[in-house]
Amino acid sequence: MTKDAVAVVILAAGQGSRMQSDLPKVLHRLGGVPLVAHALTAARSLEPEQIVVVTGHSAELVSQALAKLDPEAAIALQAEQLGTGHAVRQALPALEGFEGRVIILYGDTPFITGDTLATLASHPADLTVLGFEAEDPGRYGRLVVTAQGLERIVEWKDADTATRQIALCNSGVMAMQASLLRQLLPRLTNDNAAGEYYLTDLVALARSEGLHADVVTCDEEETLGINTRAELARAEALFQARARARALEDGVTLTDPGSVWFALDTVIGRDAVIGPNVVFGPGVTVESGAEILPFCHLEGCHVSAGATVGPFARLRPGAELGGDVHVGNFVEIKNSVLDEGVKVGHLTYLGDARVGEHTNIGAGTITCNYDGVMKHRTMIGPRAFIGSDTMLVAPVRVGADAMTGSGSTITEDVPDGALAIGRARQVTKPGLALRLMAALRARKEAR
Ligand code: UD1
Ligand code: CA
Repeated sequence: MTKDAVAVVILAAGQGSRMQSDLPKVLHRLGGVPLVAHALTAARSLEPEQIVVVTGHSAELVSQALAKLDPEAAIALQAEQLGTGHAVRQALPALEGFEGRVIILYGDTPFITGDTLATLASHPADLTVLGFEAEDPGRYGRLVVTAQGLERIVEWKDADTATRQIALCNSGVMAMQASLLRQLLPRLTNDNAAGEYYLTDLVALARSEGLHADVVTCDEEETLGINTRAELARAEALFQARARARALEDGVTLTDPGSVWFALDTVIGRDAVIGPNVVFGPGVTVESGAEILPFCHLEGCHVSAGATVGPFARLRPGAELGGDVHVGNFVEIKNSVLDEGVKVGHLTYLGDARVGEHTNIGAGTITCNYDGVMKHRTMIGPRAFIGSDTMLVAPVRVGADAMTGSGSTITEDVPDGALAIGRARQVTKPGLALRLMAALRARKEAR
């Protein structure tokens, strides 16, 4: 059997009013990234031909975020939220010409795995629904299963007492051929307790056509939806617990796992050591054997093997640390490449810089990279020695094997091998300190 082509529709038009937020629900962050990024990641693992995200509430904000998260995803607008079935119908134009299986999922259920979606995609029924045994079925739609398979889905609002006893619930994830979706969606009505076009009614419609519907089940955790800030916080705890467990399994040392925070895409190599209270924002890779000491914040950066970072260091987007680089306390690095063996021990800001191998950056060095309007680059060659408290006023270049004197403000390029000193010459007045203090004390007493 050849694998069917797959397309994924992600529903994200709802307001999420219970979040009590001006931010649309799917843009609230979990694991350092917007909720919808989790659904996108699961969707992409299927290598789909097309992903369509249905937006509605704050569609513009959601579209802007999607352009960054997945520029290839198509966006369909559902101007009015008339139900999940109506939402999927808005995605049909973006799926024009697509023949294959369509998977529908929600943008606010972050724990759905690619494996589960793959199982659904390859399931042989005409229509497959992802169900779960709910510990507390509450207001979920109930799956009515008979010997012939899945017969229908009944929404809680429309269910009688007997149906409400069913513990097998609808996760909302569904799969079927695109042709079937096109055939059935226009036939949905909103003749129900909510007055909405229910996607779930597709099951009964398919059955009335003599087609076969079936259920694939997964753990309840996977279908966990986010509706409130409390649920978001619980989901974050669950996400972090899983990420920590995975890192430990992968051979990463976490001295105090509970205080390390991961993002969805954090990658850490085997035998890396991560100290307590380290936060990984999105886009971080740490190679094998690197060490991140306590209280560091990393985002959008790469740390090579043998490097040590922190304690109390901040690596911002574009920080690239080569092998055996040492970044010490109260150092901030942004959009800068540090070649092998560079040492930046203390109290330094490097922004928009390139530092050659084995260069030593003294305490208190600052790349003055911003003139109030534009950012400029600082280029420092290999084996250079930047004296403590050097201000490097960019754009500026310090050559290979060059030095800067402590306390220098470097505004002009320094050639290879040169020593540049840019500070006022020291003036020493013998005895003046004693005389000055005596004069000041006398003035105070005279008051
Ligand atoms: C839905 C299912 C229910 C299932 C539950 C699982 C239907 C009719 N019911 O109910 O069987 O147990 O999910 O969580 O499908 N959305 C839109 N446009 C709309 C309406 C919803 O994009 O017009 C999106 C929402 O943003 C959300 C998702 O679809 O991501 C689900 O909508 P929601 O209103 O939460 O559905 P439920 O009533 O919870
Ligand atoms: Ca819901």
